[in-house]
Amino acid sequence: MARFVTIVGTRPQFIKAASISLKLKAMDGVEEIVVNTGQHYDKEMSEIFFEQLDLPAFKHHLGVGSGCHGAQTARMLAGIEGVLRQENPDCTIVYGDTNSTLAGALAAAKLNIPLAHIEAGLRSFNRQMPEEINRILTDHAADRLFAPTRKATANLIREGIAEDRIFLVGDVMFDVAIRYGAKAQCESKILSQLGLAPKNYILATVHRAENCDDVSRLSAIFEGLNRAASSMPVILPLHPRTRNALARAGFSGKIGRNFQITGPAGYLDMTMLEKNASVIATDSGGVQKEAFFHRVPCITLREETEWVELVELGWNKVVKPVEGKAICEAITSRLGHSGQNGSPYGDGKAAEKIIEILLGGHPS
Ligand code: UD1
Ligand code: UDP
Repeated sequence: MARFVTIVGTRPQFIKAASISLKLKAMDGVEEIVVNTGQHYDKEMSEIFFEQLDLPAFKHHLGVGSGCHGAQTARMLAGIEGVLRQENPDCTIVYGDTNSTLAGALAAAKLNIPLAHIEAGLRSFNRQMPEEINRILTDHAADRLFAPTRKATANLIREGIAEDRIFLVGDVMFDVAIRYGAKAQCESKILSQLGLAPKNYILATVHRAENCDDVSRLSAIFEGLNRAASSMPVILPLHPRTRNALARAGFSGKIGRNFQITGPAGYLDMTMLEKNASVIATDSGGVQKEAFFHRVPCITLREETEWVELVELGWNKVVKPVEGKAICEAITSRLGHSGQNGSPYGDGKAAEKIIEILLGGHPS
């Protein structure tokens, strides 16, 4: 019996885990023990994904909640170490670049338990980002590094990681987008609930620390979205970090009628909102890629992106979120825009390849 401990804790990790966990659940001779660190804990940031994606129930919930990076990561590290000692798995699986990822990686590495990092090799080359530090440390602690793209593979090789530990498998988020596309189409009623017509609205998400914690950037983004809302409705499902930042900055009352702010969306509703948007403006890694999966033009409200293929293919444009008018112009100039075709994120079978490698088979 092969035994895996999977560490998740944030919204994108619950979604990414749907790729592998559902396949492991259906296999004989394999046990997966899911640990939820509790980094995200509101129902619409956590539980809803377990329900909608039919994820296996977690066996351990560490309940770490929010906090400063050091304290939050330390609480996770102590909790995960306890679980790994108790479960003694053949391998620990971590996803992405959050504090939950880093804590899982450190705990496994210190106990000499083999570590698999899914979404390895992504780099923004911006060490101010907490995620960049998390990724680099996790990659260098990992035994098996599952890279989503050629660029990610090249980044790892350049950093001196042995090539026989790196596997180019594609992006697990693409697997998930394919798997749940039809379900979203059948079950989500979000467009009628919000009174939105297909291909006649702008979808936005904002949660990156550098945008929320900097009041001038946050105001530029909200001014840009507000201006864009004068030509087309804007819908913004709001991350709790941004909700709190807006409240602190006293922005809540300054938003026009055509600009709807909702709570965080479930995955099925989010898929429908993305698929039917005219354009997406986001600072999310996952949402940028999903825009491309659904062939919707996108602008990324950041200094840079790790997902450079999206820019190269012309589907994405990076726009520094420093000036409201420029953000509005960037959004409206993307309306009706298309990029080139391409499949830089694999064939939708990343999870199968990862499982085969983890179980000792050969990559297909
Ligand atoms: C984290 C990840 C980020 C990822 C994002 C996905 C780190 C360093 N950052 O950022 O890489 O893109 O998740 O969404 O791990 N909060 C709530 N309820 C919740 C969760 C958070 O109110 O369920 C609020 C709290 O005020 C908290 C703040 O949001 O302090 C930030 O949460 P945190 O998990 O620290 O970082 P994210 O911004 O969510
Ligand atoms: N997402 C969601 N509801 C939302 C916003 C995002 O289900 O209101 C999904 C989105 O479709 C993608 C993932 O969450 O699959 C991206 O997570 P997030 O933007 O929180 O983090 P990032 O990808 O930037 O780490």
